[in-house]
Amino acid sequence: MTRLADTVALVTGAARGIGQTIAVQLAQEGADLALADLDASWLEETAALVRAAGRRAECFAINVAEAASVETGVKAAEEAFGRIDCLVNNAGITKDGLMMRMSEADWDAVLTVNLKGAFLCTKAVMRGMMKRRRGAIVNVASVIGLMGNAGQANYAASKGGLIALTKTTAKELASRGVRANAVAPGYINTKMTEQLPDDVKQTMVKLIPLARMGEAQEVARVIAFLASDDAAYVTGQTISVCGGMVMQ
Ligand code: NAI
Repeated sequence: MTRLADTVALVTGAARGIGQTIAVQLAQEGADLALADLDASWLEETAALVRAAGRRAECFAINVAEAASVETGVKAAEEAFGRIDCLVNNAGITKDGLMMRMSEADWDAVLTVNLKGAFLCTKAVMRGMMKRRRGAIVNVASVIGLMGNAGQANYAASKGGLIALTKTTAKELASRGVRANAVAPGYINTKMTEQLPDDVKQTMVKLIPLARMGEAQEVARVIAFLASDDAAYVTGQTISVCGGMVMQ
């Protein structure tokens, strides 16, 4: 599929996990990739996979939590590729614990990376997108941002906030030809969830109508759709990719 031909996409947190799969999916659909993570050397594996798909990849050290790092990194990416047409705000962290015991530092760290990070990256790319009247922003939220979850006050608030940020971005930029949407993944098979004990996994799967965990590629395919002109009339939406666990 080449629906992302002539598209330059910037993916944050692209070194591993869902971010790596997103980058490869976008490349397979024709996009060139600006890959961002805390350390540029961590991105070599993803860059090799993008190049193996026949697309261009460049690696950038960007800490999404720091405005100066985002500004410098996005500028470097725009200089390297000439533009950014698509931004995927994927970088995210968890620091779980019941609210009673959650430290202020753990609250701040998660809100800063997951929510402020998306704000900073969106702000950095929007000027160029508005000027060219072309752009798609996709935020990686979570079903936890819709449902809440005991032990994840910081994470749930960050992802709920990200969904609200998505709607506001969509409203502010629609008249400039820029769309913004979110995906809300449910329980996805990653290195993190692999380590969960079998009984915990079975309990989780019982809550999922499609009766299985999701794959990173199933999230990535929805992101590729939202990034493409196939979604030309879709903005401000949150699509849950969760096997029906949450139905809005
Ligand atoms: P992961 O931990 O495997 O990968 C996250 C990547 O983000 C890493 O490469 C990490 O270095 C990078 N990163 C962390 N902080 C950063 C910062 N300040 N600046 C730049 N990069 C940074 O995570 P995973 O599981 O692949 O998750 C990706 C996204 O999907 C996250 O936003 C997460 O909240 C979301 N998600 C994941 C689910 C899952 O089941 N794994 C379910 C729902 C949402």
